[in-house]
Amino acid sequence: MSLRYTAPTEVRPEMQDFVAYTPGLTIDEIRERYCLERVIKLASNENPLGTSPLVQKAICEQAAMAFRYPRGGLKVAEAIARHHGVTAEQIVVGNGSDELIDLLIRVKAVPGVHNVLGFKPCFNMYPVLAKLCGATFRQVPLNEDFSFPWEAMTAMADENTALIFVTTPDNPSGFCPPVEAIMNFAATLPAGTFLVVDEAYMDFSDDEKKHSVLPHLAQLPNVGVLRTFSKSFGLAGIRLGYAVLPPSLAAAVRKARSPFSVNLLAEAAGVAALQDKEFRRETLRVTREGRSFLSMELKKIGFTVYPSQANFIMVKPPRSIAANTLYTALLERGIIVRQLKSGYDLPDFLRITIGTHDENICLTQAVKEILHA
Ligand SMILES: Cc1ncc(COP(=O)(O)O)c(C=O)c1O
Repeated sequence: MSLRYTAPTEVRPEMQDFVAYTPGLTIDEIRERYCLERVIKLASNENPLGTSPLVQKAICEQAAMAFRYPRGGLKVAEAIARHHGVTAEQIVVGNGSDELIDLLIRVKAVPGVHNVLGFKPCFNMYPVLAKLCGATFRQVPLNEDFSFPWEAMTAMADENTALIFVTTPDNPSGFCPPVEAIMNFAATLPAGTFLVVDEAYMDFSDDEKKHSVLPHLAQLPNVGVLRTFSKSFGLAGIRLGYAVLPPSLAAAVRKARSPFSVNLLAEAAGVAALQDKEFRRETLRVTREGRSFLSMELKKIGFTVYPSQANFIMVKPPRSIAANTLYTALLERGIIVRQLKSGYDLPDFLRITIGTHDENICLTQAVKEILHA
């Protein structure tokens, strides 16, 4: 393959058949398309309670400082380190954990040489960003019940495997293995391979201690954790995520990051979100109760509901209706759920974010109406 460009607008070969990440539909798009007054969005795993009042106040207080450059998220990194009982040098904050996925790939994977591994299906940003970096992305199919085939993943790793991404609880299934399984898996990896455990949804699990690898990182030199403020902290629109890494890798990622990617408002919002314990407690309570409620209600009417420890459930509708038909019928009623056809290649499944109790009831009622129509 010639690498010489023949036109000034020609782009890298990786970009020629590049498929971008497809985000969920927005409330405004659906409101306009179907002329609806109320739209319920249960598609992007956002916080059902909205934005914490403490966070809103902190953002307003910082508004007058918007003319200043930010400080690279130093203050929020220190607050996160205290929150988890780790050192600040282990923390790298980013413009959402998406930025940290990108940076980890760029600092570890040499384009054209290294490979990056993930399960299939997996959170689509891993393959999208690996491809953009010029690294091969290899995937190991999940077991039929969406549990993790650890041995197959170990077998797929070789001396050119720079990174492995594992999401737990997993997106889109909600599957969450015991922490011992992850620790045992980490011990099987080649010397140069770093395991990234993406715990974006970990705090929604019934028992974090049983599942999270974060408290064990001191014993695991080849493992790091990704977390985000987009879910239980309710800051998806602010863009703030973080990685907990061995200090030398954290320093490399920090060097590669654009210096102002965590802006002034994000930093203030993150510090306030960590302080608002009541908002977070309530978020976790509403989500866990809603998860049980929705799972039970949908099972009663013939859905296959996969056990989830996240703030969403993955479901397969009863045989009488195709996932796609149900998805469109829900949209027409102003309820947005996530189709899993694009990105995940699961056309027969839907992913539903846990909403408020009222939203969960609206969803189950709408589903019942559609099934009986
Ligand atoms: C598994 C997983 N990791 C990371 C992210 C990205 O989070 P952020 O909003 O911090 O970029 C998401 C978002 O949906 C996710 O599902």
